[in-house]
Amino acid sequence: MGNARDALRSARNGLRRALLLGPHTCPWWLGYSFDNPLRRFVHDPRSILGGLVEPGETALDIGCGLGYFSLALAELVGAKGRVVAVDIQPQMVSRARRRAGRRGLAERIEFRVCEPHRLGVHGPVDFALAFWVLHEVESPEWLLGEVRSALRAGGRLLIVEPRGHVSGARFAAMAEQARAQGFGVSEKSGVRLSRAVICTAGASDGGGARLATT
Ligand SMILES: C[S@@+](CC[C@H](N)C(=O)[O-])C[C@H]1O[C@@H](n2cnc3c(N)ncnc32)[C@H](O)[C@@H]1O
Repeated sequence: MGNARDALRSARNGLRRALLLGPHTCPWWLGYSFDNPLRRFVHDPRSILGGLVEPGETALDIGCGLGYFSLALAELVGAKGRVVAVDIQPQMVSRARRRAGRRGLAERIEFRVCEPHRLGVHGPVDFALAFWVLHEVESPEWLLGEVRSALRAGGRLLIVEPRGHVSGARFAAMAEQARAQGFGVSEKSGVRLSRAVICTAGASDGGGARLATT
């Protein structure tokens, strides 16, 4: 029994490696299990993002998945704003792009497939969102560092993690990593099924540095 389980785990990990997915990456087809028409009753984007992103701003959706929050961000930043949505899975990005087209929001959103260890995003960014993503990233320090460099001084990063996958202790460690990158961190309540913090980029370094795209 143990051998069969090990063989299954090893086959699954082999497939994940072949697809360039990390051991914790949510595969694109599983995205529909939580990103479906019922989700707005659990995760109302306007109540979650309200007050964090303003019309005309540039927002970054990290690990955009099927685009649930990318579309909401595009509505919140309005016609004069811009959204950059990145994900490591081309299948997620193409489906999110298609959704944006259907909603007439494609012009406001730049979708990109990113590398597993590099977002490759140009700053300055006003608001960044990492919703149910960080636990999938091996050693999130690099991601927090990239986001910190892309955010303007005073820019905000909202980190939301699923309670089922991420313990309080692990989430506290993530918040500590954000602090170590120079963010001011404060708890955000009211995101269902989740733990959340708002991270504010300090004003000390001028912020908004451009990230390498290569
Ligand atoms: C659980 S899904 C959440 C999707 C979306 N944020 C949402 O709330 O609907 C996590 C997403 O993060 C993406 N992801 C995982 N590791 C990543 C990385 N290193 N860089 C960018 N995206 C990543 C996965 O491909 C997947 O689409």
